[in-house]
Amino acid sequence: MNRKIIVLDTTLRDGEQVPGAKLNMQQKLEIAQQLKRLNVDIIEAGFPASSAGDFQAVQEIARSVGDSVSITALGRAVKSDIDAVYESIKLAQNPLIHIVLGTSNIHVEKKFNRSKDAVMQMGVDAVKYARTLLPHVQYSTEDASRSEFEYLWSTIEAVVKAGATMINVPDTVGFAVPEEFGELIRKINDRLKNLNDKVVLSVHCHNDLGMATANTLSAIKNGAEKVECTINGLGERAGNTSLEEVVMGLKVREPFYQCRTDVKTTELLRTSRLVSHLTGLDVQVNKAITGENAFAHSSGIHQDGLLKDKQVYEIMSPEDVGAESMELILTARSGRHAFKNAVEKMGFDTSDAADFEQLFQKFLTLADAKKEVYDHDVFYLVTNHRTIEQ
Ligand code: KIV
Ligand code: ZN
Repeated sequence: MNRKIIVLDTTLRDGEQVPGAKLNMQQKLEIAQQLKRLNVDIIEAGFPASSAGDFQAVQEIARSVGDSVSITALGRAVKSDIDAVYESIKLAQNPLIHIVLGTSNIHVEKKFNRSKDAVMQMGVDAVKYARTLLPHVQYSTEDASRSEFEYLWSTIEAVVKAGATMINVPDTVGFAVPEEFGELIRKINDRLKNLNDKVVLSVHCHNDLGMATANTLSAIKNGAEKVECTINGLGERAGNTSLEEVVMGLKVREPFYQCRTDVKTTELLRTSRLVSHLTGLDVQVNKAITGENAFAHSSGIHQDGLLKDKQVYEIMSPEDVGAESMELILTARSGRHAFKNAVEKMGFDTSDAADFEQLFQKFLTLADAKKEVYDHDVFYLVTNHRTIEQ
């Protein structure tokens, strides 16, 4: 039986921290509605203590979208932030308070300038207070991957005893590598299950070294039960773990991970395009899963193989992520097989071998000049050729 992985989407909180990605209330609501259609388990709707606008957006999302999907919002380990979180999410059916506080020496010494014990106590007090408001509280040990393990664990132990129901382990600055991060999660998971096996273990990775997806998958392999991601991998600096990559990684490699999510994968492309359109942030063309070229094949050898059997060069079908079908880009490197396929798809006859060869040579000349040959070019090429030859 596959283990279910809880998916929290933080596009509207961590994702919205990207410079230039400011969304208005209506746009946030539209994204939240699409995330609900995508069937994520939890939407992190914002950071309500940061501004009145953010507070209102979180509140509106909780009110209008938070019937079947859980809604959370972030606050620091201080009473006023926790109050803002609570007030903004309380109308949702299943609200979750999310508290963040650093555990690395750098955070404790440079950010808070307090003793380690004093910082840990702040966390404990914050969780105790949050639990007077709601039954579900997530605690994030910010910069966990650069923290001393025993202090990190003591913090986790203390906040779980104070009532935290989810522990989120962030690789805040994208410093971790997969083997090491997986090992960290395994160690925490072993101790956490002994302490309280109802507490959910979660991870939140950043992509500074391009390893957010790999670190997240490694964490899952080592016991993480929940992942935090964003659409198109948006987020601070180099971004967060891309939701579409983790979800499809688990789906395509299901026998290896033996895990599943409830995400409706056929909504992935639509969600990616909506977020890109509303934030004004383009998706790189070669982005895994949702990039424009993710299912486009241009080499002749590949096109020939695909036309014989899609599995030759496709590990997932475009339809699984909501794309129409694979795309064969005709270029000078496309072979006769791909060109013939394009001509026949338009209803033209190719049974006269000599005629087809002449047509193919004209296609190569055009492809050399144009680089990419589109359907309308093929149509013009064939009709023009046949008119001249008749
Ligand atoms: O990167 C981080 O540590 C965060 C926390 C709030 C989870 O975004
Ligand atoms: Zn983050």
